[in-house]
Amino acid sequence: MKKISLNSFLCLLLLFVIVLSAHAQTQALPQLGLSSIQEVVKAMTLEEKIDLVVGEGWYIPGIPIPGSPKNPSEAQKKVAGASGNTKAIPRLGIPAMIVCDGPAGLQIFNVGKSRAYYGTAWPIGTLLASSWDTALVRRVGIAFGREIKEYGLDLINAPGMNIQRNPLGGRNFEYYSEDPIITGHIAAALINGFQSNGVGNIPKHFFANNQETNRSTLNVIISERAMREIYLKGWQIMIKQSNPWGIMTSYNRVNGPFTAESGELLTGILRKEWGYKGFVETDWYGGQDAPEAQGAGNNLLMPGMPAQKSLILDAVKNGQLDEKIIDRNLEAILNIVIQSPSFKGYKYSDNPPLKENAEISRQAAAEGMVLLKNEGKALPVKPGTTVALFGNNALELIAGGTGSGDVSSMYTVSLADGMFHAGYSLNTNVYASYTNYLATEKAKKPKQNNVTAMAPQMPIPEMSISEDLVWKAADQSAIAIITIGRNAGENNDREVEDDYQLTATELALINSVSGAFHAKNKKVVVILNIGGVIDVMQWRDAVDGILLAWQPGLEGGNSISDIISGKVNPSGKLTATFPARYEDDVSAKNFPGREISDIAKPTLSGKTFDAEVIYEEGIYVGYRYYNTFDVQTAYPFGYGLSYTQFKFSDLKLNARGKGTSVLVKVSITNTGSVAGKEVAELYITAPAIKLDKPSSELKAFAKTKILEP
Ligand code: BGC
Repeated sequence: MKKISLNSFLCLLLLFVIVLSAHAQTQALPQLGLSSIQEVVKAMTLEEKIDLVVGEGWYIPGIPIPGSPKNPSEAQKKVAGASGNTKAIPRLGIPAMIVCDGPAGLQIFNVGKSRAYYGTAWPIGTLLASSWDTALVRRVGIAFGREIKEYGLDLINAPGMNIQRNPLGGRNFEYYSEDPIITGHIAAALINGFQSNGVGNIPKHFFANNQETNRSTLNVIISERAMREIYLKGWQIMIKQSNPWGIMTSYNRVNGPFTAESGELLTGILRKEWGYKGFVETDWYGGQDAPEAQGAGNNLLMPGMPAQKSLILDAVKNGQLDEKIIDRNLEAILNIVIQSPSFKGYKYSDNPPLKENAEISRQAAAEGMVLLKNEGKALPVKPGTTVALFGNNALELIAGGTGSGDVSSMYTVSLADGMFHAGYSLNTNVYASYTNYLATEKAKKPKQNNVTAMAPQMPIPEMSISEDLVWKAADQSAIAIITIGRNAGENNDREVEDDYQLTATELALINSVSGAFHAKNKKVVVILNIGGVIDVMQWRDAVDGILLAWQPGLEGGNSISDIISGKVNPSGKLTATFPARYEDDVSAKNFPGREISDIAKPTLSGKTFDAEVIYEEGIYVGYRYYNTFDVQTAYPFGYGLSYTQFKFSDLKLNARGKGTSVLVKVSITNTGSVAGKEVAELYITAPAIKLDKPSSELKAFAKTKILEP
């Protein structure tokens, strides 16, 4: 037998002792899920705690982002190109949670990696809300949540819930409405569906982020009443009905403090008054004072920067920030971690049911389109008909908006393709002329990648069409369909000229096509492929039909064709007013506010100036203003036509006692000749005793199933 020396023996003994004590230590260490959250928090070092209340940084492969890690962590490799993640602390059994954007579908930066993520582009928020159908939106939520879960994600920065205060808001497409009641109910429906998968929503941006101009420095001045009745109301309804895992604060200030750093908002209103139990995160790099945000109840600073960690550490060490506050913030995050797929070790497939989801997206899109005009039954049009399809967007559908709301979409179906699938013949001369024009214009543009695509795109200007082509088309085709498209997104609000209003070329196109087709007794229909309200007064009398298709997601061309053919009877209603003139909108004189300093401050998304906006209109936002002050609109809130007619009868109100709810019943009969769905919108007029009141306020709504004639 080989002898071992004393030295070797001592070394072995020491090793044994080290191994034993390390083992004992791991044994004794609390583990998330096995021990209580308080015990886990107690076992954390201060540095670990801070690591968890500040995100791990935004890592996009190949793109250097200031303050972000040089090399990806395990979580950042798991779904490379996601928007952010919380940090893993393996010794305590805490996994990372991964979050992506939102809100109209998954956004992943497919840059510099072997595998690409593509998802379903759902119809934009405004379209979903225009369906007024909470069951449908819930269904979208279920499918959407499943999709992100199958890609290994835990959370999504969605839905967008800001109020469409002004038609020019650059992100209006991400939001639901000018009205808080529909906003709250539609958001809750989406979240309830989405979260039923065991993944979480982070509705955004809480609150008053109703414009993009100077968004990260803007002080929004709002009366307490307007806050409560308009800008907070939707959030309150949504929280009560759906309990999202997280909430994202906005970039702006409200009456002074940043929402991200307002204890009155995040602790007072959100948690104490409304009983919210989830976590709160900042918008990306939002707020200015990391310790202040922590103190206010903003649990998680996203996407997280090392500088924020040092500031929090210093603040705790010098007694400015109580460590107990960090513990409190941490507990709310861990409460969500234990529900997450990452914690549960969910075996995601990386293979969501994309085909099935595309079909749901197609149906949902058709349900939220709004028929604005249909003179002489211009629509529906029988498949088989020869259609002259005008407008760039007939070939280039705008499926959704830009910025973080842009979706890594699998594909988009153009209207031309959709109509072709539905069995229409397209006028080949017109089609060829647009194909050539778009190809030439595209060749002139610099090449896009996923990151530059985040920036607002300059649309290809509408083609100037020759009279000769139009008159020939009027001879050869049975009907003309013209598309008008608009796109907008994060960082910029829209302009009145050439955006809210049509360009001279677009107006010329409508006039020329209408002139030629009407001369031949043929109809002209306009399809609006837009993300926000535009002017219609300058041109609507020239055409027979207008279908507001919004930005309908990846199957858009098929969905629009479903309405054109009558396969789906339109049942969408406006959730935003179309004013007669932009200036008629009461917020127009206070949009986008004024700059109060001319010193430009750099932000990640460009320069910003200290600015303020006063919500002088108070509660009179959208229809609350138009109806109360008798201001004519082009199309009012709640408006939308159908291919059939409905009769409302037997309205019954049943109060269950003073001060309790009232049950309202009404019978709806389809009195026309085709099947369809109808929306019941319940408005009330409250007596103006102590306060002035809007002449009408939406209180409840419901959508019928398909009603046969
Ligand atoms: C947007 C958020 C988005 C976040 C992450 C921010 O610029 O305002 O809506 O969720 O970026 O992409």
